Amino acid sequence: MIILGVETTCDETGVGIVRDGKTVLANVVSSSADLHKKYRGVVPEIAAREQVRTIIPEIREALYLSDLKLSDIDALAVAYGPGLIGSLLVGVETARVLALALGKVIIPVNHLVAHIYASWISEEPKFPLIGLIISGGHTDLVLMSDHSKFSWLGGTRDDSVGEAFDKVARILGLSYPGGPEIERVALKSIHDNRDIKFPRPMVAEDNLDFSFSGLKTAVKNYVSGKKLASKFVADVAFGFQEAAADVLCSKVFLAVKKYRVKSVVVGGGVAANDYLRLEFVRRSNNLGVSVLFPEKELAVDNGAMIAVAAFFSNQSIDPVLLNADPSLHFL
Ligand code: KG4
Ligand code: ZN
Repeated sequence: MIILGVETTCDETGVGIVRDGKTVLANVVSSSADLHKKYRGVVPEIAAREQVRTIIPEIREALYLSDLKLSDIDALAVAYGPGLIGSLLVGVETARVLALALGKVIIPVNHLVAHIYASWISEEPKFPLIGLIISGGHTDLVLMSDHSKFSWLGGTRDDSVGEAFDKVARILGLSYPGGPEIERVALKSIHDNRDIKFPRPMVAEDNLDFSFSGLKTAVKNYVSGKKLASKFVADVAFGFQEAAADVLCSKVFLAVKKYRVKSVVVGGGVAANDYLRLEFVRRSNNLGVSVLFPEKELAVDNGAMIAVAAFFSNQSIDPVLLNADPSLHFL
């Protein structure tokens, strides 16, 4: 089964073509991040305008790269939420019109669920599993007992972890998006000289919720009135990244023990962070649980993960009934 997946929930336009939920034939992604840089955050109107401009050329490019025609596609899949309403409408309306015109089925996909399925392409995890979604808009922990069977276990009470990366980057005078910038400068922090220890909010509490706003404020207070010299920035970035990774790992492994799962699957833009990946692998040793991360280009928003999630859910609906849902969550 060949599925064309469309992703336009935030500032990326993604079109992926995937065979049988496994083989990525094409995965074309463009981002309007450069246009948002001077505002240091996504401007919804600009994101949606760019998506209107890029979606059709990207569908053409994905078909060209996979050497297919539209008529070879068995089903359309689209992320219908959560996300920015203007952006979502671009993807939903494009997929809907294509499905209607071609007489194909359409499979609506929850963007958060798709972030978990991004890992399936390299390796199929065993159920039950703990899914951790860490992106610009979300920090959610779910228990997944089978395909399409989720229980939400906890999430952030304030900022998402990606938002914290972006805000701390801004405090440190780094550009947007902040996650890759924090990771880049943190690499320059020298091990022997590190003495910064930021708080780990909620880490000792016996629940599966998170809080990142206090950590961001701790960084802001620490930096306040100090000169942003490059060594200082590197050490602060490292200290923040270390604290964020510690909190994420602690809560995930608390859930692993509580629900005795076989796998952990991490998805979302922040899952591209190498320090975090290494921490997860290190702390999973001797626990008998496998930790899966997606390939880096599949960690950030893309159309292939939408097609993979659609293949496994296989719940098509009449295209006429499909609506964008900006505040969609786990059911
Ligand atoms: O999943 P995503 O591409 O879009 C949303 O659904 O939000 O995630 C974007 C977030 C941004 O906050 C960005 O700073 C963060 O992922 N991010 C990273 C890294 N790459 C992207 N955070 C930490 N380290 C990275 N390498
Ligand atoms: Zn995302």
